[in-house]
Amino acid sequence: MWIVWVGYFLMIVCALIVTYFMFLGLEYFYCVFFKHQVPFVSSSHRLRVAVAKQINDFYPDAKCAVEVGSGHGGLARYVARHTKLSVLALENMPFCIFMSRIGDLFCRAKSKTVWCDAFKFLDEYDGNIDIAIAYLGPKLTPMLKKYNKKIKVLIAMDFEIHDLVPVRVVDLKRGYVVYNGVKYPHKLFVYEFK
Ligand SMILES: C[S@@+](CC[C@H](N)C(=O)[O-])C[C@H]1O[C@@H](n2cnc3c(N)ncnc32)[C@H](O)[C@@H]1O
Repeated sequence: MWIVWVGYFLMIVCALIVTYFMFLGLEYFYCVFFKHQVPFVSSSHRLRVAVAKQINDFYPDAKCAVEVGSGHGGLARYVARHTKLSVLALENMPFCIFMSRIGDLFCRAKSKTVWCDAFKFLDEYDGNIDIAIAYLGPKLTPMLKKYNKKIKVLIAMDFEIHDLVPVRVVDLKRGYVVYNGVKYPHKLFVYEFK
């Protein structure tokens, strides 16, 4: 009898895995071909460790952060767990939001997922943001510089803002991401605005 239950269990697990990859793929193609925005690609563990280290080493008194384009929320939860920051994870794709909220349920970190267009959120937000974290590709990352009156520190992962001089560049020396056929080595670009 137990073998039947194991069979049911395995079928459910397989169905969940297939559903996950189906929605992930659909959202990926929707982002790339219709919405023309960076799709969800998770940041590596090494990048997350480096971001948390920057925050703890250089901005230990910072209180609030936003993650611009948070995907499944893994980075936001990691930063919330490993620093003193409360993190608002901003994301606009529904499946990412769904996965991120499930993640938030199982993690008691100070991270909250907000379903919104991150740039609209920043346009309307009238407080100060201690730290903004972005893993947004070469076109969208430079758009964040217009929020220099609201954001104190911007940590841009892998993609730099060419007409701004970062206060620090952290070269992870291993790993890279490929975007539109171009290789971007894993680096953090830290900009201080005020
Ligand atoms: C490369 S992924 C980064 C995911 C996550 N930050 C991480 O490090 O694992 C970029 C994410 O930004 C989201 N995104 C792109 N443009 C956005 C926008 N205007 N508003 C909100 N989210 C956006 C995408 O849907 C995608 O999930």
